Amino acid sequence: MSEADHLWDNLDLVFSRWGISEIPFTESAPTTLRQAAQLREVFTGRIQELETALTAFRGRERRRLLVYGWYGIGKTAFILELLSLLRRKARDTLATYISLPREAEDLATFALVALAREMEDDEWAQHVLQQMGLRPRRRPVEKRTEVDAKFVKTSEETVPVSPPQFPTLSFEDLLGRALEKYKRVVIAIDDLDKQAPSRVREMLRSAQGLLKGEASFILTSHPAGLTRDILTRDLGLIDTAIQLETLDNATTYRMLVNYLNSARPEHARRDPDDPRAVMPFTPETAHALCERSEGVPRYLNRLGSYVLTKAALLRADRITPEVLRQGLEYTDSQLRSQHLTSEDYYVLELVLGKGSVSDETVTLDDLERLKVKEFNEIMPILEKLVQLDLLRRLPTEGAAEFGPSPLLLGKSEKPSQEKSSGEGA
Ligand SMILES: Nc1ncnc2c1ncn2[C@@H]1O[C@H](COP(=O)(O)OP(=O)(O)OP(=O)(O)O)[C@@H](O)[C@H]1O
Ligand SMILES: [Mg+2]
Repeated sequence: MSEADHLWDNLDLVFSRWGISEIPFTESAPTTLRQAAQLREVFTGRIQELETALTAFRGRERRRLLVYGWYGIGKTAFILELLSLLRRKARDTLATYISLPREAEDLATFALVALAREMEDDEWAQHVLQQMGLRPRRRPVEKRTEVDAKFVKTSEETVPVSPPQFPTLSFEDLLGRALEKYKRVVIAIDDLDKQAPSRVREMLRSAQGLLKGEASFILTSHPAGLTRDILTRDLGLIDTAIQLETLDNATTYRMLVNYLNSARPEHARRDPDDPRAVMPFTPETAHALCERSEGVPRYLNRLGSYVLTKAALLRADRITPEVLRQGLEYTDSQLRSQHLTSEDYYVLELVLGKGSVSDETVTLDDLERLKVKEFNEIMPILEKLVQLDLLRRLPTEGAAEFGPSPLLLGKSEKPSQEKSSGEGA
């Protein structure tokens, strides 16, 4: 047996002792409705918010729902859970989802794509997708059959790829066809704020007609996002706004239990009072992990994933407080080794050095060292560092303030310079 085989078997042994088949945590929610089944197994909490949303969709009127909350709080997971519920329970509703790509320029095109993708039996919808160079679920094949003396030749035409010329009209057309079959059509457009702010403004302004039309919309944004202001204040488009806040410790603990159990389907133990429900964690380290996550689902996922990886490298039987400590060190070092440019790095160091940074606390000296004139110029870098879970936005009213994320070790937690023992296998 080769050394690599040994390694594999050893890892197998670790996981079988832990009673889980794999590391169940994921950094991001799934990106299509079809993958939402996995999410169903682990989705935890948000009962009140779901109730608000579901009640809104019980009315006759079309709805425009805004789901807002900070990075990694669970906006995508929430709307996918909501849509998958609608799909299972509300037969008269057609629920669609699309995550807006960064380079998107108009909403109508993407609303059109979201809708067309779910209209599998509609040939025209499938044709529209194909024309845009997107894979239709059912291919409207254009076959040409030529018969000559000996052969029957069938060739498939490639349709030239082109974006719709009048996306809003195409969308309305398709929506009309959908509304012949369904009482309600819901279009969820996720990740609006991941665009450049000027583009978001432009996009939303020109999509007013679309958003006020016959479909219901679900949009997501960050609490202090420009998107939210435009939608609610400038355009007054939103009729129901749902804020996702951090989860309490008990819910976070149940979430941890659900994730771990999703990797041991046959021996699931879902009672949070049963210590075996959090294996390979002990109740003590499981609680510590949840506290560290501060009720942010993505923090829990990232921490869980790094800590289990480290524990597997250590061949640990259980996540004892010492294994957890090493797992947290490992998390810190992994996060810092994500790809950063030198500018990103300087900004990170500035925030870590000062403890927190905002337009009000940044000094001219700081800015000069970063070779910028205004605080605003480093905002995109700060946002990027937040997305990488290195920094977080502090819940300060008004000015944007940034501090280190709880996934990084605090100054007092830093290991002393001598190499910690037990590194590696
Ligand atoms: N209620 C929940 N139950 C279980 N897992 C959740 C829940 N909410 C979020 N998650 C998980 O936490 C991670 C982060 O959530 P998600 O991607 O939905 O956050 P987000 O708010 O959409 O983030 P971003 O601002 O980056 O788009 C994902 O792995 C997701 O599946
Ligand atoms: Mg998201």
